[in-house]
Amino acid sequence: MTYLGLDIGTSGVKAVLIDEEGAHIADANAPLSVSRPRPGWSEQDPQDWWAAVLLATDQLALAAPSAMAALKGIGLSGQMHGATLLDGDNEIIRPAILWNDVRSAAECGEMEAAEPRSRAISGNIAMPGFTAPKLLWVKKHEPEAFSRIAKVLLPKDYVRFLLTGDYVSEMSDAAGTLWLDVGKRDWSDALLAATGLERGHMPGLVEGSEVSGTLTRELCARWGIAGSPVVAGGGGDNAASACGIGAVNPGEGFVSLGTSGVLFVSNGAFSPNTKGAVHAFCHALPDTWHQMGVILSATDSLNWLAKLVGQDAATLTGAAAAGYEGPGEEIFLPYLSGERTPHNDARARGSFVGLSHLSDAGRMAQAVMEGVAFAVRDCQRVLGDAGTEIDTLIAVGGGSRSELWLEMIATNLGMAISIPADGDFGGAFGAARLGLVAATGADPRAVCTMPAIEKTIEPRAALTSAYDDHYARYRALYRGIEEARQ
Ligand code: XUL
Repeated sequence: MTYLGLDIGTSGVKAVLIDEEGAHIADANAPLSVSRPRPGWSEQDPQDWWAAVLLATDQLALAAPSAMAALKGIGLSGQMHGATLLDGDNEIIRPAILWNDVRSAAECGEMEAAEPRSRAISGNIAMPGFTAPKLLWVKKHEPEAFSRIAKVLLPKDYVRFLLTGDYVSEMSDAAGTLWLDVGKRDWSDALLAATGLERGHMPGLVEGSEVSGTLTRELCARWGIAGSPVVAGGGGDNAASACGIGAVNPGEGFVSLGTSGVLFVSNGAFSPNTKGAVHAFCHALPDTWHQMGVILSATDSLNWLAKLVGQDAATLTGAAAAGYEGPGEEIFLPYLSGERTPHNDARARGSFVGLSHLSDAGRMAQAVMEGVAFAVRDCQRVLGDAGTEIDTLIAVGGGSRSELWLEMIATNLGMAISIPADGDFGGAFGAARLGLVAATGADPRAVCTMPAIEKTIEPRAALTSAYDDHYARYRALYRGIEEARQ
């Protein structure tokens, strides 16, 4: 018996095949690119997600045909919040507006004015990254497109529609739309009405570990699958990663250094706290919720610098590590796409401060990594303000390959960060686990366990006070720049 996880990420689709013990069998990737037609905009063509899903899964079917033949369950993970608009013939109306698109800042205020209970029902501040304000933007700026909308789907749920023919979402991703009553785990008619939509525009809802449909016969034939695998609800990429890394009980968390940066902690109850722009969402397992702080440009900041200086990101982190003795003079604010936690400020922009003749690519890379570490520290601060304690932290995402980066974060959080022994424990792996649970009825907490730990990165105590000072300067800079902008 085997299980497949598909993660529809922003920079690519990842497919992972596991066996019934949850052990890795094979994986495949297919890249994706983002289109930024105007400042603050970020779009993808949903057809590209599907092409990438086919490419990655075709590769798996070629590389591991007998394992694919034994496929019993599929789980989906994906970039959250993206608005995929379908008309009555299931045609895509316009390019999907992604999670890191901040065009709908004005519509956030309008939505909260239209439904003053919005924060209480959804557990979240209306932020331009979330799906509902994007729909208000379309309603205002592209009324003809809005009038044709029959269904609004999240990225992985559009892929699910093509895999199974069913319109279904699950709680963790649905919570990021701002149309969900997160405490009740159901669509909110009041929040839908605030954006001119109703329940009929939404897909059905299941839990992430439940069955949402079965793979179509055509796709079973294409991939040489003997039976008809079920497709689990799955999860938004953060909740799915948490299932992959075993952050499913209260206090268990992870720090993710991907395109975005996330500080995630699992909660036993719905614990909204909109101060400090903390996100409070459903987890992918029943009766479980989570909080997180989200920073919009984590590895994205390093990749931006890499492009600018004509080096790759790994060379840059290597150069930073070679010259590293603790915080330097340069400070970087990683707000290249605005920021969610803690500022909820779509207009914030990145800054380099403290440049001198000594500022070379390595020192600037160090400042970028430190800026992201400070942004993660901001998230920890506001989660603490919300009364949340994080007991354990595991590192995930491409940026976690840099031990220096993890050490900077550990020192700033005053907490050890564990690195999993081997393998990739991202959204695709967590989704495969949810596929296994849905197909077998196994206890999700027995499946979604923590991996073996290879190494634990401890805070570097000798640098704590230097980083406290540097962090205070970082915070003052945002306030100063914010004032100058008024
Ligand atoms: C979470 C968020 C990002 C995306 C990245 O709220 O916007 O983490 O899910 O894929």
